[in-house]
Parts: sequence; structure tokens; C-alpha cells
Amino acid sequence: MTITVQTKTGEFKFENDEGTETLLFAGLGAGLTLPYECATGTCGTCRARVMSGDVEMAWPEAPGASRLNRGKGDVLMCQSHAKGDCLLRIPADVAAGDAVAAPRRFSGRIEDLKKLTSDVVDFEIALDSATNFAAGQFMVMTSPVVEGGRSYSMVNYTPETDRIRFVVKRKPNGGFSNWLFEEAADGCEVSLFGPLGKATFRPGEDGDLVCITGGSGIAGIMSILDHAAQAGHFKANKGWLYFGVRTLADAFYVEELAELVEKSGGALQVILALSDEAASAPTHPDYPSIRLEEGFVHAVAARAMAEISGQLNDRTIGFVAGPPPMVDGAIRVLLSEAKLPPGRIRYDKFS
Ligand SMILES: Cc1cc2nc3c(=O)[nH]c(=O)nc-3n(C[C@H](O)[C@H](O)[C@H](O)COP(=O)(O)OP(=O)(O)OC[C@H]3O[C@@H](n4cnc5c(N)ncnc54)[C@H](O)[C@@H]3O)c2cc1C
Ligand code: FES
Repeated sequence: MTITVQTKTGEFKFENDEGTETLLFAGLGAGLTLPYECATGTCGTCRARVMSGDVEMAWPEAPGASRLNRGKGDVLMCQSHAKGDCLLRIPADVAAGDAVAAPRRFSGRIEDLKKLTSDVVDFEIALDSATNFAAGQFMVMTSPVVEGGRSYSMVNYTPETDRIRFVVKRKPNGGFSNWLFEEAADGCEVSLFGPLGKATFRPGEDGDLVCITGGSGIAGIMSILDHAAQAGHFKANKGWLYFGVRTLADAFYVEELAELVEKSGGALQVILALSDEAASAPTHPDYPSIRLEEGFVHAVAARAMAEISGQLNDRTIGFVAGPPPMVDGAIRVLLSEAKLPPGRIRYDKFS
């Protein structure tokens, strides 16, 4: 079936065989730069109006659908399947990108699933074929037992790889994250679509890095810092990571972060912000290159930025990832304390 989209930048067509993929994934897979953020029904960015044809929304109660004008035919492309040829109107700029490098569907198997803390697991996916993703990107994962897809950011950075690593924080009553805490999930086959997302580290781009994150928001930031260290980025630039957790016992990837500090020759500074307990020492008891501070991560970052904003070079890039209120607070810090222009702040809201 043929999908035609009328956009602010012209008309495009793409094929959607049998309507198995959502409109968003079929269009992205054809190389079109369709608008999206979460890719899983929460943000509302992928809004389109159906002008003709039959389109079905798989999850009409999706939070991102609350502001749609359903009477006029509005749908979320990330939750909708075409039943035949259709014409959509999309209120955004769209371009025809490179279909070869476009995101696509993979199948994979969960391996090496392990608990890092009482509510965080990490695991690898062995993919059926290699992918080439940018540090900071994510994939939408679907399991045979949980309804709907979930977005997860890759933790590792390895060019052209068929093994990708994820870290997931358990959400109370959350469908997918609780399933991952069951033993049966290890070894289970899953389906993935990606890579997706624009909050990426771009090799060759110069500038200090300021990263602010909380909990499993560290996922994509690990990939970004790993790529930056591999690319020798810290030879000419500095980096700061503010990583928020409740208590020291909730911290994870500390050994890996200490290795990154060492690889960077000390140009990268890592600060663990403890929101629910006092920092008993200025540095981590086992990894003295990691500093401890007390308070919510955006407040800790705000105090620090007030002091170091004069040291940041004028190409500084801010990376933020985590729960939406934390992301909003961190963006305010980067704008008002670090004085970064909005165009130099890249973020993922884990909504
Ligand atoms: C770009 C991005 C990257 C992310 N990266 C990570 C990460 O690296 N680690 C991490 O722990 N979390 C990450 N998240 C959050 C993650 O996607 C999940 O929201 C989180 O794990 C909670 O999922 P849950 O199934 O446990 O909770 P639930 O409350 O069951 O579901 C949460 C989300 O799943 C989707 N959903 C729920 N039900 C349906 C349905 N019936 N049909 C379709 N969709 C449905 C919706 O988007 C909903 O908001 C990321 C989110 C985004 C947007
Ligand atoms: S991209 Fe579809 S709702 Fe977020």
C-alpha cells in the first residue's frame, strides 16, 4: 500500500507492505525525516491528519493522543497502521534522507541479564544482523508478552555491531520493566526498531561536554562518553558528568565511569549526586576519581555551573536524559547557569 504525506516542505510517498509497521516506522524506514521524539505514544510529536484512507490507532488511550483533534482525523503516526492507501497531512518540515542508513527492524535475543541494583537491570541483545548507531541513540523494543513497544537507549558504543547493551530501571507497575525482572526474560526473543533519536554525539564536533542525568538516563550518556573517549575528544575538550541517584547503594556503572575518567586523562569529571542521603566523604569510597555531592542532580549541577560556566568553551554541548521533570530542571540549569544556547542542548525525556 502507498502512503502519501503532504508536509511543510512538499509531498512524499512511501510503501507500507501489509501495514505491518506503524506509519512512523514505515516512513522512517523509507528514509523520510518524519517528526517524532519518544516513538512510543507519549509525547504527541508524530501527529498527522488523515485526509483520506483508512488508518487504525492501535493504542487510542496513548497519553500523546490527549491533545489530538480526533474528530478531524488526527492520529499519532507511532501508534497507527494503514489499512490501505492513504493521504496524510503532517504539520512539520520533512526531507527525504538516505534510505540505506535509515532505521529498520531487527530481531534479537536477550542475553546476560543481570541486576545492577535493587531496581536496575542491564542486559545485552544479540541481534540477527549488525547495526551502526550513533552514541546517544535508542531502539524501540517489543517483547512477545508485553503490549506495545518501549524505547531504550544503547549503553555501549561500538561501530557496526550485532551486540547492543541496555540498562533499565524498574518502574512501579510498569509492564516492560517488571517483565525484565523475571528470570524468564533472559534468553527471550524480542523485536527492535531503530536506531532512532537525535540527541547524539557527532564525531568530529569540537566542544566541552556537560552531561546531566538521573537513574537509567545514564544509558545513552555512557555511550556518548565512551565514543568521546575512543575518539580522543578529551585531548582538546573537557567534560562534566552529573549523575543523580538516591543513595550510594543505588549507583551503578561506577567502575566503568572511573575507567572513562582515567582514559580522559582527568579531563572528564564525574560527580555522583545523592538525593536521599548525605555524602559521607568527598569522593567514592572505592573509586576516588568520582566525587560525591548531596542533593538533586539539577541542583548539584546548578551550583557547579555557577562556578565553572566561565571555564566552558563557546562550543560546549549539553546532554540531558532521564525522567521528564529532571530533564526540564537540567535544561533550565544549562540555559541559565551554563549560558548554553538552546541549539547546543540535546536531550531525551524518558516518558
Ligand atoms: C527516547 C527514550 C529512551 C529511553 N531510554 C530508557 C533507558 O535507556 N532505560 C530505561 O530504563 N528507560 C528508558 N526509557 C523509558 C522506557 O521507554 C519506559 O517508559 C520505561 O522502561 C517504563 O516502561 P514500563 O513498561 O515498565 O512502564 P509502563 O508504564 O507499562 O509503560 C511505559 C510506556 O510504554 C508505552 N506503552 C505502555 N502501554 C502501551 C500499549 N498498550 N501500547 C503501546 N505502548 C504502550 C508508553 O510509551 C508508556 O508511556 C526511555 C524512553 C524514551 C522516550
Ligand atoms: S513520537 Fe509518537 S507520541 Fe511521541
